[in-house]
Amino acid sequence: MKPLLLLLCLFPFCGCRSHSAPVAPVVVTHAPVLSRPVSPLFNPVLSDTLLEGKNRDWWQKPQQIITALKLKPGSTVADIGTGSGYFLPYLSRAVGAKGTVYAEEVQEDFLSPLQRRADQFKNVRLVLGTETDPKLPFLSTDTFVLMTVYHEVKQGTEFLRGLHRFAKPNAQLVIIDFDAKRKGSHPAPEGHAISEEAVVQEAKMAGWTLKKRFEFLGTQFFLVLE
Ligand SMILES: C[S@@+](CC[C@H](N)C(=O)[O-])C[C@H]1O[C@@H](n2cnc3c(N)ncnc32)[C@H](O)[C@@H]1O
Repeated sequence: MKPLLLLLCLFPFCGCRSHSAPVAPVVVTHAPVLSRPVSPLFNPVLSDTLLEGKNRDWWQKPQQIITALKLKPGSTVADIGTGSGYFLPYLSRAVGAKGTVYAEEVQEDFLSPLQRRADQFKNVRLVLGTETDPKLPFLSTDTFVLMTVYHEVKQGTEFLRGLHRFAKPNAQLVIIDFDAKRKGSHPAPEGHAISEEAVVQEAKMAGWTLKKRFEFLGTQFFLVLE
């Protein structure tokens, strides 16, 4: 490079300094980490009253969620953090005999009741994951569902980024959770909520783009990302 051209190229980085010390460019090497509260893991002892409570169908509207998702018969769904498996019968029916539902959970206390429930459906398989790795089969899943789970996930962006390893092409990610700011007849349980904006931002940093959102769950947001 000719000396004059070199001088012109370097000029923008020199600023107004009168001395000639080089100024190192600022290089951002990783995405910023968001700081937000994370709820403790749900206590399995409370399953009967909260996850399987009598009025859950009324506020959770599971059949309406299934209709909105238009899950394809024969497809594979992972119910991440399935808990007591409340949503499994709906998912199992939607994907049908040729489909598969992975019922993933990280707390061993859920496993025996969950196994009993899974045994009622030929297409449901139990998966014991960890809080950082759902341990699903690689490239297996068309639809990931996190129903009232994400507010408990530590390192959310890393977790969502990791799901790409298990995703088939064009996989979708469904996140349903309580947002304490939202109004509705079933308020977010104290300390078990997360802002919708934080979820969308963390998902975006993890390579998931918001495609659809549904507005029929009152105090819960319902997001579909790809
Ligand atoms: C409030 S319960 C919801 C259970 C179920 N999805 C439902 O809607 O009935 C939250 C569940 O998420 C699980 N969980 C929390 N963090 C998780 C993680 N990083 N990976 C998988 N499951 C997780 C908890 O063990 C618990 O079973």
